[in-house]
Amino acid sequence: MHKILVTGGLGFIGSHTVVELQNEGFEVFIIDDLSNSTIDVLDKITAITHKKPSFFNIDLKDKIAVTTFFNEHKIDGVIHFAASKAVGESVEKPLKYYENNIDSLIHVLQQMKVRKVNNFIFSSSCTVYGQADELPITENAPIKPAESPYGNTKQIGEEIIKDTTKISELKAIALRYFNPIGAHKSAKIGELPIGIPQNLIPYVTQTAVGIRKELSVFGSDYPTPDGTAIRDYIHVVDLAKAHIVAMQRLLKNNQKKSFEVFNIGTGKGNSVLEIIESFEKVTGKKLNYRLVDRREGDITAAYADTTYANKELGWKAKLSLDEALLSAWKWQKTLK
Ligand code: WQD
Repeated sequence: MHKILVTGGLGFIGSHTVVELQNEGFEVFIIDDLSNSTIDVLDKITAITHKKPSFFNIDLKDKIAVTTFFNEHKIDGVIHFAASKAVGESVEKPLKYYENNIDSLIHVLQQMKVRKVNNFIFSSSCTVYGQADELPITENAPIKPAESPYGNTKQIGEEIIKDTTKISELKAIALRYFNPIGAHKSAKIGELPIGIPQNLIPYVTQTAVGIRKELSVFGSDYPTPDGTAIRDYIHVVDLAKAHIVAMQRLLKNNQKKSFEVFNIGTGKGNSVLEIIESFEKVTGKKLNYRLVDRREGDITAAYADTTYANKELGWKAKLSLDEALLSAWKWQKTLK
């Protein structure tokens, strides 16, 4: 049974990936510093899969702790989610983001090199494309100057990984996520925003359940059919499954290059108003919202060209937007 380390494994995407790894028969080790997650997610994962992952409360900025972990555990592959990810916060606290996201990555890669752990999946983001010149966005779209330190840590992270694959046996895949939404069908795990949600879907569900008074729609004057911005919203379970397929590709040495990049989205774009309409349809809830000014740094539209991931990776999103929104709503109703 292959042993996979999942850093940030108690987070939103990490926890869903742990569930899918266990479903596929992998033995999972989780490292998480609980800075943006809670320990009860470990029990929730166990309740879903009836297998308790090994958990280590480690801050990856602590080089000694990372070294000790790799000394004590023989791992076959690493899926690296652990990072701070609030775009707005990264603008206010750039050094926190560079230290946390880059130091953590370097410490993990250093130990993988020493221990000859050669299979690495990196959590990247479509944010590296900025506002792409062409839609849908392919993996060959130019990387644009990052709009935030958060986005920059993803770009720098990919460069660090690519350079490391050139001087070692490391094989790596960067998955550039579009917009992950929704929750596991059991409603035992989901997105747990701390404080006021930055992302659209948690704000929608918190408005629908009465925690928030009104959703602000950031911008209604974009050059899009209904004036609101367009994104590619992908069910987090589909996204989780892409990580399994990518790790299996590396474990079987099926990769074509030592560093590969795949866009992970549905290939379909939806505007904010279309999201609101779909949410109201699937839940029967009327959503209180107001059209306000654009949010600083937002782009007009982004959705993935999924040809390469479908053909080369052998992965395709299967769950619909309605299923994702309904699962987000079911999850929200379980929260206090
Ligand atoms: C989606 C759309 C907003 C909130 C960011 C990061 C990306 C990834 C996902 C981490 C936009 C609009 C939002 C609200 C709104 N993060 N919106 N009212 O900005 O596309 O992507 O989160 O990996 O890297 O860049 O996602 O959910 O914040 O916004 O109108 O209260 O919803 O303007 O058009 P975004 P989002």
